[in-house]
Amino acid sequence: MRRSTEMQGARSPALLQLLLLSCCVCATAGHPFKTPLDLDVTPRITVLSSGLNGCRRFQSSAVNYSTMLLEADSERLYVGARGVVFCLNASDISASSALTIEWEASPEQKRQCLLKGKDNETECYNHIRLLQRFNSTHLYMCGTHAFRPLCAYVEKKRFVMSSQPEEGRDKCPYDPTTGYTALIIDQQMYTASQYEFRSYPDIRRNSPPPTLKTEDAPTRWLNEADFVGSALVRESLNSSTGDDDKIYFFFTERSQEQKTTYSHSRVARVARVCKGDRGGRLTLQKRWTSFLKARLMCSLQEYDFHFNVLRSVFVMPGHTPEDTLFYGIFGLEWKNVKASAVCRFSLSEVQEAFGGPYMENQDSGSKWKEYTGKIPDPRPGTCITDALRARGINVSTSLPDDVLDFVRRHPLMSQQVQPSDRRPLLFRRTTHYTHMAVHMIQGLDGQTNHVLYMGTDEGWLHKAVEIEGQLHIIEELQLFEEPQPVNALLISAKQMSVYVASPSGVVQLPLSSCRRYATCYDCIFARDPHCAWNGAQCVDMMTYTDRSTLIQDIWRGSRGCENIQEDVVQRSRSVRVGDDVLLQCELSSNLATPLWTLDGSELQGYGLSSGFRTGTDGLLIIEARQDQSGLYTCYAVENEIKVAVVTYNVTIHLNLAPPPPLEPTEDPYGLFATLPLTTERPSSERPLPPAPLLPRSDLLSPRNMEAMYLALITILGGLCVVLTVVLVYVGFCLRVGNRGKYSLRAAASAYPSSKKHNRNKKTLRSSSHMELKTISSNCNGNGICNGVSKQRNGGIQDGGFLQIVPGEGHPSPNKEPPPPAPPLPPTPPLQSPECVFPNGLSATLPSVLRRMNGNSYVLLRQSDSDNASPLCYSFAEELNKILEKRKHTQLLPRPDESSV
Ligand SMILES: *[C@@H]1O[C@H](CO)[C@@H](O)[C@H](O)[C@H]1NC(C)=O
Ligand SMILES: *[C@@H]1O[C@H](CO)[C@@H](O)[C@H](O)[C@H]1NC(C)=O
Ligand SMILES: *[C@@H]1O[C@H](CO)[C@@H](O)[C@H](O)[C@H]1NC(C)=O
Ligand SMILES: *[C@@H]1O[C@H](CO)[C@@H](O)[C@H](O)[C@H]1NC(C)=O
Ligand SMILES: *[C@@H]1O[C@H](CO)[C@@H](O)[C@H](O)[C@H]1NC(C)=O
Repeated sequence: MRRSTEMQGARSPALLQLLLLSCCVCATAGHPFKTPLDLDVTPRITVLSSGLNGCRRFQSSAVNYSTMLLEADSERLYVGARGVVFCLNASDISASSALTIEWEASPEQKRQCLLKGKDNETECYNHIRLLQRFNSTHLYMCGTHAFRPLCAYVEKKRFVMSSQPEEGRDKCPYDPTTGYTALIIDQQMYTASQYEFRSYPDIRRNSPPPTLKTEDAPTRWLNEADFVGSALVRESLNSSTGDDDKIYFFFTERSQEQKTTYSHSRVARVARVCKGDRGGRLTLQKRWTSFLKARLMCSLQEYDFHFNVLRSVFVMPGHTPEDTLFYGIFGLEWKNVKASAVCRFSLSEVQEAFGGPYMENQDSGSKWKEYTGKIPDPRPGTCITDALRARGINVSTSLPDDVLDFVRRHPLMSQQVQPSDRRPLLFRRTTHYTHMAVHMIQGLDGQTNHVLYMGTDEGWLHKAVEIEGQLHIIEELQLFEEPQPVNALLISAKQMSVYVASPSGVVQLPLSSCRRYATCYDCIFARDPHCAWNGAQCVDMMTYTDRSTLIQDIWRGSRGCENIQEDVVQRSRSVRVGDDVLLQCELSSNLATPLWTLDGSELQGYGLSSGFRTGTDGLLIIEARQDQSGLYTCYAVENEIKVAVVTYNVTIHLNLAPPPPLEPTEDPYGLFATLPLTTERPSSERPLPPAPLLPRSDLLSPRNMEAMYLALITILGGLCVVLTVVLVYVGFCLRVGNRGKYSLRAAASAYPSSKKHNRNKKTLRSSSHMELKTISSNCNGNGICNGVSKQRNGGIQDGGFLQIVPGEGHPSPNKEPPPPAPPLPPTPPLQSPECVFPNGLSATLPSVLRRMNGNSYVLLRQSDSDNASPLCYSFAEELNKILEKRKHTQLLPRPDESSV
């Protein structure tokens, strides 16, 4: 059940639409937004692959893991890849017990594939496209087999192919990426695809005979349909009308009814057939007599903005067949825009559309409109029900000709299927979701919560919970170091796991990782229906029998922790007047905003003149004055609740004796001037070890350091200018992703090739182990960066396209051990893991503040990922401001003019 990544679409209309989208989204972003729908939901926390808990992986020499079949009771996960099928232990896919069936196309077959003009690096292999249960003892599988599809039975017990492979041409597409869906129900096999390159798309029942198909003339029932899923709904169960079971198919196709407008050239559809259909006798012989289709709408109606491409569906069974829900991931018609929307449809809405008026294509032209004439009796396209049986119509072959002829010409319904609440549950501008699965779980309050797991085209997993018709993204997890699309996604309630297949392997993750939340408020703010606070820990509710003492608040995400005393980290700083002090405070939640108090009163105005700057990772006191001494507290504000994170007792001395090991005159930049001061350290913190003698290497000589810092500033300044230009350019149309890593890659490739370009590229590469972060994100209404806190708040009143949030790509989840000390040139050789310098410098924390030539401050952050890149969001601005303020002349006026 994969979807095609190939979309055919006219090029120039796509460009036009792109412009329209830019306008639409920018306009949306620029105006105060009135509806409560959040136009770009921010995941609450970001977890990198190095920080994943309980993650299990399966990898082998094979690639292109694409299909999965779970047999929860026998603890088996079957996985189809390129040329091989695996049988894994579903409880632990990394266990060594994997069984395999090798099934690759022969060299001769591959040679013929190459002769057909296919790509022998990707297409001329046996890509497993179908893997399903056939009966209690056998599985059935199909593969593309180097453009000559074959199918075969697999004996489950021994996990071997039980017979020679058989012809698969009518059941399996030739191409590994063509949209395809298949179902085996009671040994009947339903498939839908555009099987061969030139053939029409078709929905088929292949067995038992006779094979039923869709009709091509006089009215084509399917137009370039790209299938993403199918589902059986057992509507015969307890049916008062003796209704039949139905099979629903989900796809995107070329629009018939609105040929004129570009924006509607493709549409999302749901179609259905009856399971008992046997075709007609004369009219519609070996064709479905019950085929009907309707449009699935997923749009931002305020902007008349439609998501026309269906990428994935998940069918959520209800208590009764009527309660069935269809979740769909929708995208836009042009490939280079990553936006995704999630819409949910109820079966009853779909049924209503199929029970409503038909569309009609008049005189076989292009004009479609609602049919208003007489509808034959019995109603065309319905299943055989008791009412028909009473009239002697027991099977579809007994249906009258006029009814069947009507069916043949009227496959499309006039009514569109609207999503619940008439709008998407989620909209994200910068993410391309490929697959999803939904899990239902009862919260402490007895409410049923729907938890969605969505995989992206870059190998991330988003877990979201629906709260009042909107999705709150609990977390985003990086599943793979290398970006790669999620090919398939499965949930097992029994194994409490989610399985994700990708080109390089399969990942198994627990449905929840509650231990990640260290405090009661963290646990509550997460709003994870799996998690609750038990007084001491955030625990998985499922594993808890006594739930009476648990605390959970999914609905508001704020209540229950009022009476819980939580420890606040306490630190001391002691510095001299005129020093600059960084008080670190990193917030784990992307939805939290920092708030600082001094001796209990909120710090007002963080501008340069106030002497304070706040950033996403701390507060900077610039040129400390004595009256700025006191108790500073950093709060994380989330869901309108202030939670203290860290307090600093800051003492600012008028004058302190110079440190013995270092002559201040030897350190003209003040870099180490305050190093060895260890006054007023609370007993909870270990005192600093005696400061070792700093090596007086040439590296540390004032001249060299000056040159070094000048060079660094120059590089960074130049980089920023170029990056800003490029990001404006890239961000304008392509919606710069909010992960620095990816946007930077895009930026690098978007450089014009010039001398300057080469120089900067070199810089990019050479500094790829560091990430720049500015201290301040409060730009006093400066358009370029006032998006940070607001976007993190979930609002979108930001500046539209330039919303690169510093460090969002590489946040340091609190629970990860801090990476080792950065290998930066003049690192003081300190070893104690807890030593913190009085002015906020730290040898072990990932961030180090460096005083640069008395002019500026940069937070150099070492990153453990090789992909890390400098992100200099508003750094140029920062630099300029400080330069302006201090009027230093040592720096070149235009940093990018000096050679690097
Ligand atoms: C198979 O995986 C490779 C990378 O591992 C990728 O380049 C290729 O496109 C994939 N093919 C299909 C059909 O998914
Ligand atoms: C799967 O692994 C679990 C534990 O890792 C083990 O208890 C179980 O027996 C295994 N199941 C099978 C079918 O091998
Ligand atoms: C694909 O075919 C080319 C010749 O057309 C050959 O050089 C290359 O080795 C083949 N690649 C594979 C993977 O077979
Ligand atoms: C399942 O189907 C296979 C293949 O048709 C057949 O050989 C086997 O006997 C069937 N098993 C049962 C229990 O019907
Ligand atoms: C239809 O089925 C009913 C009972 O199920 C039977 O009595 C009747 O003869 C059948 N009619 C035809 C035309 O097969």
